[in-house]
Amino acid sequence: MRILRHLLVLLMHLVLGSGDQRFSNGYYYQDIINGNGNGEIYFHKIRLHVESPETLVSAVQGSNVTLPCHYRYEPALSEPRLTRVKWFGNPYGRERDVMVAIGTRHRSYGDFKGRVRLRRSAPGDVSLVINPLQSDDTGRYRCEIIDGLEDESVTVHLKFRGVVFPYHSSRGRYLMTFHEAKEACEKQDAQLATFEQLYASWEEGLDWCNAGWLIDGTAQYPIVVPREACGGTDLAPGVRSYGARNKSLDRLMPFCFTSSIKGEVYFLQHPIKLNFTEAAEACQNDGGRIAKVGQLYAAWRFVGLDQCDAGWLADGSVRYPIIQPRMNCGASEPGVRSFGFPPKHLKHGVYCYKAHW
Ligand SMILES: *[C@@H]1O[C@H](CO)[C@@H](O)[C@H](O)[C@H]1NC(C)=O
Ligand SMILES: *[C@@H]1O[C@H](CO)[C@@H](O)[C@H](O)[C@H]1NC(C)=O
Repeated sequence: MRILRHLLVLLMHLVLGSGDQRFSNGYYYQDIINGNGNGEIYFHKIRLHVESPETLVSAVQGSNVTLPCHYRYEPALSEPRLTRVKWFGNPYGRERDVMVAIGTRHRSYGDFKGRVRLRRSAPGDVSLVINPLQSDDTGRYRCEIIDGLEDESVTVHLKFRGVVFPYHSSRGRYLMTFHEAKEACEKQDAQLATFEQLYASWEEGLDWCNAGWLIDGTAQYPIVVPREACGGTDLAPGVRSYGARNKSLDRLMPFCFTSSIKGEVYFLQHPIKLNFTEAAEACQNDGGRIAKVGQLYAAWRFVGLDQCDAGWLADGSVRYPIIQPRMNCGASEPGVRSFGFPPKHLKHGVYCYKAHW
């Protein structure tokens, strides 16, 4: 027994002395340190559980988000143990360190520096709070608890709550190469959608009869109600794919994704209707800017903007957002309606945007 104990203490020194290596010989070294003085070694019978009540978290860009993670011991411990908490994330596909905490000490890495903390709302709560959430934070995160020889982890997926919209530029319906499509979305304060985003929007009811670019270079379209004109009635509802397209030769409209609600979109109260130039000026005079299409969609989807007034947007289109369909406000379903790109001398209202920071 004594020899074994010495050996363990020696191993402990080796392990602690050498920084980050794992200790994994089948014992809890802390139990020896905190032992009862009778030379008894506790065999490892305590189990560490790491859990997350929510393994898929969706959030809005620019907001704060909490990725839940809790740990506990079974049976419960009489004394707290020194555990190490590590959060990894793979926003770019490769897993990397987000944060490490031991006791009250903690450290965050890379882009996450200064934006992450542990929630610690209760013993064992090591949920990760990210504030503010940036556009490239989505992906898979892993919460790992390391207690001497044991480590357990749980994975939480973070995605943006957002809205996908098909975008037509003033140049017509099918006229964009992949790169033009990408640019067109960015100009509307949005990004080319991923398949997951299109799929999520399809689940929420997006139905669109024309295939459009996604960020992976494929052309796909979401169908909720199969119909003859949209690929036939034999296929089940779903997101249909034409597969990868030629990025420089094929011309399609893009599916754009927007999640940002970092400001306010509003229909400008103005005594008279305005042509496009006057509309843009009127927003500036009001301390804002003429709104982009992505901003209008975000306001419609996340703030519930409902306005039965057609208004100019920055790309020269005229649209209005409807939550509660009603007589004289267009189609029978909620959505952002478009009048296309009328000649710019025509008079309409205008939607403006004001950033909140
Ligand atoms: C985080 O977001 C919640 C709403 O989801 C809000 O109530 C809270 O004040 C925010 N906290 C910080 C630090 O911004
Ligand atoms: C809008 O009206 C102003 C006069 O108020 C005029 O100067 C401007 O050229 C008009 N813009 C367009 C696009 O017709």
